[in-house]
Amino acid sequence: MTSKTPAVPAVALGTWAWGDSGEAGDGYFGSQLTASGLREVVEKAQANGFTLWDTAVVYGMGHSETVLAQALKGYARSEYQLSTKFTPQAAADGDDPVAEMLEQSLGRLGTEYVDLYWIHNPADVARWTPLLIPLLQSGKIKHVGVSNHNLKQIALADQILGEAGFRVEAVQNHYSLLYRGSERAGILDYCRERDVRFFSYMVLEQGALTGRYGPAHPLPAGSNRAAAYNGILPKLQALTDRMRAIGGNRGASAADVATAWAIAKGTTPIIGVTRTSYIDGLIRAGGIELADEEIAELEALGDAADVDTRGWWEQEM
Ligand SMILES: NC(=O)c1ccc[n+]([C@@H]2O[C@H](COP(=O)([O-])OP(=O)(O)OC[C@H]3O[C@@H](n4cnc5c(N)ncnc54)[C@H](OP(=O)(O)O)[C@@H]3O)[C@@H](O)[C@H]2O)c1
Repeated sequence: MTSKTPAVPAVALGTWAWGDSGEAGDGYFGSQLTASGLREVVEKAQANGFTLWDTAVVYGMGHSETVLAQALKGYARSEYQLSTKFTPQAAADGDDPVAEMLEQSLGRLGTEYVDLYWIHNPADVARWTPLLIPLLQSGKIKHVGVSNHNLKQIALADQILGEAGFRVEAVQNHYSLLYRGSERAGILDYCRERDVRFFSYMVLEQGALTGRYGPAHPLPAGSNRAAAYNGILPKLQALTDRMRAIGGNRGASAADVATAWAIAKGTTPIIGVTRTSYIDGLIRAGGIELADEEIAELEALGDAADVDTRGWWEQEM
């Protein structure tokens, strides 16, 4: 991102699962999270320099934003950065649905501005992108990014913003050892060449790539992530075993190796954190330097798993 951007940590923190907590959650993750547990996650993360929090209106339909704001209470606004999104499919009918959705996010987040605001998906790039411009001009959003956009759509959004003196400063796409569509489509190269930060999401494939879940211990029954991943867990075993072995040599876990891989590829992972011990993992991941041969081996095992983990909301890149 540009020089006026606050220093962005090597890893951002994701709060989609936080939309599950309490009564209003949508049960996507089937996670049992409490306000006090999430407060501990925030305290540990903030104390260790992980201060960039990613959320979205549609994570528990506002619940993730509300819970995040509660968990951050007491910290000065300058001590953390907020990243949230405009989701076209949830737009209201008014004159300016982007400004309206942002206003609601600001209310839930208890803030006057968002550090990084995203167009969540490319439903209509020409329609939604221009509506970011007045929000940038007013300072209600400090930086903008696009998510789930392909190369052509990123370039179009950049052109629209460019006409007003702004630019696409960040890209946020699904990117993991099982899902490298953005790399194959040249989006990582595009970002590197233009100094655009690439945020990789679902690096851990919602828990399926952590080694914590497997055929004998599947993802929580009844959750959406169980429906997406439980059927393919046997195919991931060779990869997660190798990740565990690579991590074991360094006192780290399979999940830490996945995160270290995403960092080694020049991306900023957004890791969904639900426990304080996962923050320890991020600290370890930051210290792991994978050898080129290890990266190649892990990617070959990811390819050999031969699974398609594309989310239902994602397009082919
Ligand atoms: N722009 C978009 O369209 C989009 C789409 C998806 C996600 N995102 C963003 O990216 C973030 C990350 O994606 P995600 O949360 O869906 O999935 P993820 O980061 O791939 O996986 C998160 C899950 O992995 C487990 N986990 C995390 N750290 C771990 C560790 N160190 N060791 C073992 N297990 C660990 C936790 O599951 P348990 O609680 O079961 O242990 C957690 O809920 C989201 O929260 C969201 O902010 C954006």
